[in-house]
Amino acid sequence: MKKNKNLKVSIVMGSQSDYKTMKLSAKILKNMGIQFETKIISAHRTPKRMYEFAKSARKNNIGVIIAGAGGSAHLPGMISSLTSVPVLGVPIESKKLKGLDSLLSIAQMPKGIPVGTLAIGEDGAINAGLLAASIISNDNLKVKKKLNNWRSTLSKSVKKYPKS
Ligand code: RP5
Repeated sequence: MKKNKNLKVSIVMGSQSDYKTMKLSAKILKNMGIQFETKIISAHRTPKRMYEFAKSARKNNIGVIIAGAGGSAHLPGMISSLTSVPVLGVPIESKKLKGLDSLLSIAQMPKGIPVGTLAIGEDGAINAGLLAASIISNDNLKVKKKLNNWRSTLSKSVKKYPKS
């Protein structure tokens, strides 16, 4: 089988209101030099759009899907049910339950259809970008190097001793 070294990442979200969180995944991918796209796809408001997106993901050269959704957040699980491209779910912080509803909806997938679930909100979006980069780096040396540099900068930023 021909190896494809330029897989891209798709960042999808249930609403425009999710973008303020999901743009943090995009920022990471940009820093890592990974090609990505961003789309609004709602599992309940645009089910046809969701179906068509998920069904054509592999042939569109998408290697990882990051899906952010809030409330009864079925978008990541529904997309994962339609494609075997890995799906990373970001629970968006909801107004009423602070994202606990989103987290449980995304994390509690019954066996058979997996979704890799990240933390609620901004930390989750950043880590989804980093985890997508890790997956892409399996087959991409440039991304692997950038990721290693990123981690080494992170380590260096931690002081050895606390200020008294
Ligand atoms: C979900 O409902 C979206 O993912 C969003 O987090 C939440 C609220 O959507 P809006 O009312 O802001 O469009 O489907």
